[in-house]
Amino acid sequence: MATITVRRNGPYRIQGPVTLQDHDGNPIAVPGEVFALCRCGHSKNKPFCDGTHKTVGFTDPQPADAAGASQS
Ligand code: FES
Repeated sequence: MATITVRRNGPYRIQGPVTLQDHDGNPIAVPGEVFALCRCGHSKNKPFCDGTHKTVGFTDPQPADAAGASQS
């Protein structure tokens, strides 16, 4: 089972066996069973986090547990 952790003021941390796909369903190679996906929108290596969130001062718009969940 995979675990996705919303890091405070940072990326989504993915841990576990997952398949990552682009918008056409093509597989995207992942660096291993632990990696981070960009949440700030500033990574130069999207969809992966490259640490830029720290230099741009990304902050959570609101705590993840207060945002609620919606299905799409
Ligand atoms: S969350 Fe790390 S670069 Fe965007």
